[in-house]
Amino acid sequence: MKPKLILGLVGSPRKLGNCEVIIKEIARRIPYEHTLKLIRMPSLSIKPCSACYGCVMGKACPKKDDMDFLLDRIVESDGIIIASPVYFLGAHSIFKQITDRGFLFFRVVEKTFGKPCVLLNLYGMEERIGAAPQTLMSFASFLGLEIMESVTMKAALPGEILLNRETGIEAERLASRLFAEKGPLQGYGCPFCGCEIVKMEQKQFICTLCHGAFYYDKGHNIIRIKEGGVFGSLEHRLQHKEWLTSMKDEFLKKRKDILRTTLPYKEMGEWIEP
Ligand SMILES: Cc1cc2nc3c(=O)[nH]c(=O)nc-3n(C[C@H](O)[C@H](O)[C@H](O)COP(=O)(O)O)c2cc1C
Repeated sequence: MKPKLILGLVGSPRKLGNCEVIIKEIARRIPYEHTLKLIRMPSLSIKPCSACYGCVMGKACPKKDDMDFLLDRIVESDGIIIASPVYFLGAHSIFKQITDRGFLFFRVVEKTFGKPCVLLNLYGMEERIGAAPQTLMSFASFLGLEIMESVTMKAALPGEILLNRETGIEAERLASRLFAEKGPLQGYGCPFCGCEIVKMEQKQFICTLCHGAFYYDKGHNIIRIKEGGVFGSLEHRLQHKEWLTSMKDEFLKKRKDILRTTLPYKEMGEWIEP
């Protein structure tokens, strides 16, 4: 069998920090012959999306940065391990910066769809994880990756993760999960996608990731109301791209009306810069 190519996306700027070493620890326990390639995510140059919709209309993205490099490395890999430090109750912002450029994912989604990944959130203080796991899940889901596991791991000092005796056991488990069959979702999260961050409505929870609706009955059983449809099948993703493209015609039809209402605001206020 051809050796597998594992891609480690290290979401921390710290050399030999917890994100870097836990990715390496998991990779060395993967029970298949493999090579490991690593990308230090905060070192990538990722520019903000300028919302031109050019890429959706089939044009090249005007931003010259590392997006293509990153997407091509994901395409060529067999499995991906993604680790982010928790910063102020969220994942490292590089993952959101990349997700903001997610229209570019349409270029590769047919090749990335279903590729397995493991998500790791490294945090330093109990009860201070916040919304970090949701950001990594969103990044992976928009890329069409199959999330085999999404876990949180505690380690505050750089590289401290390996001092914890349980780390080896967890690394072994995660290594065996990367290329395993996807089992039923574990935990108390959304029954459709596993995300644990929900919006509360009067009689139901709405998942903040897939927007599925569910509730708990009196016997603490989770009851599905309906799927959210944010992600779904590959066909569904491609249909979304079609829909975005059709919005161009919609905009051209309404452009004059829109301009009539927005133009009076053009000269209002003074733009200030540093
Ligand atoms: C700027 C900054 C903000 C942080 N914010 C949090 C936080 O909100 N919650 C938490 O549990 N840990 C927080 N931490 C601790 C890191 O998540 C933790 O040390 C992690 O293991 C770092 O991973 P690394 O060694 O790969 O950089 C923060 C660390 C830094 C540097």
